Amino acid sequence: MMEQVGIIGAGRVGSALAVAAAAAGWPVVAVASRQHARAEALAARLPGARPATAQEVADLADLVFLTVPDAAIAQVTRVVRWRAGQAVVHTSGAESLAPLAPARAAGALIGGLHPLQTFAGANEADPLRVFAGITCALEADAALLPRLEALVRALGARPVVLPAEARARYHAAAVLASNYVVTLLHLAAALWATFGVDERTALAALLPLTRRAVDNVAACGPAAALTGPIVRGDAATVAKHLVALAEACPAALAPYAALAEATLALAADAGLLSPEQVAAVRAVLAGAPPPARPS
Ligand SMILES: NC(=O)c1ccc[n+]([C@@H]2O[C@H](COP(=O)([O-])OP(=O)(O)OC[C@H]3O[C@@H](n4cnc5c(N)ncnc54)[C@H](OP(=O)(O)O)[C@@H]3O)[C@@H](O)[C@H]2O)c1
Repeated sequence: MMEQVGIIGAGRVGSALAVAAAAAGWPVVAVASRQHARAEALAARLPGARPATAQEVADLADLVFLTVPDAAIAQVTRVVRWRAGQAVVHTSGAESLAPLAPARAAGALIGGLHPLQTFAGANEADPLRVFAGITCALEADAALLPRLEALVRALGARPVVLPAEARARYHAAAVLASNYVVTLLHLAAALWATFGVDERTALAALLPLTRRAVDNVAACGPAAALTGPIVRGDAATVAKHLVALAEACPAALAPYAALAEATLALAADAGLLSPEQVAAVRAVLAGAPPPARPS
């Protein structure tokens, strides 16, 4: 028999997960949120689900998702009475399973299911679209793991099992791949602002570059996708950038320099630069004057 799913926290992830699970044939039986209207609105989108209190969700469901903010997971787990055999799962990328300890003490199985995706709260026409082809990181008691893997596959996503000690690294990788790309585009547009171009126009110019770079990484991997002054060993151009950023946009200088170091390591490790080129770029990053261009 299909597991009866319950949702506590009718926010962005709770809503997306509930409607997708229901669309995939997993019955969502009850939904709770502190604001009852929120639970009602979500339950209305789910056949057979009813708005409920958190305790009622725990009483009705075999598989309960705590889709509340990270900081609320421990508090919600503490106040609800859990029972042996049911499963209690959070969806945080950063949190360990420690906040779920009271549920484990009551005999429940505990786990984490982190969808590696951004949920902004929009209601998609196809609820499974947002999960299609994404990865969901799982950490769970051994008896719960196959149940979560089955749900992830039913959603059209890929499960990856996360060792507990790797969680911070896993989450940092997600931040690098997503949040910091956003920050880099913000800084790049801020540079255009210094020569009088508004952000919208700057992003329209810069985004095709970003998209192509991302496509190139997908097609041939990071080393082969690298372009620009560092992979050419062009220390003089890197030096000019450092001077320009220090003058016009100091907020971009440290991120530029840190990423230049990382880019240099990538190019050097891939054998794309001679030791002399590596040394020349490293010297300008350390503050040396730019090398004279060969005449
Ligand atoms: N958004 C994303 O892109 C994303 C991606 C992957 C994972 N996650 C993770 O998914 C979890 C939920 O994130 P979210 O973005 O969906 O958050 P969210 O949109 O803020 O939704 C959280 C919901 O939990 C409810 N809530 C808050 N405090 C509560 C409490 N003490 N007791 C019961 N319900 C409470 C809130 O509704 P009421 O005010 O009605 O209670 C709110 O709608 C977090 O662990 C987050 O790290 C988020």
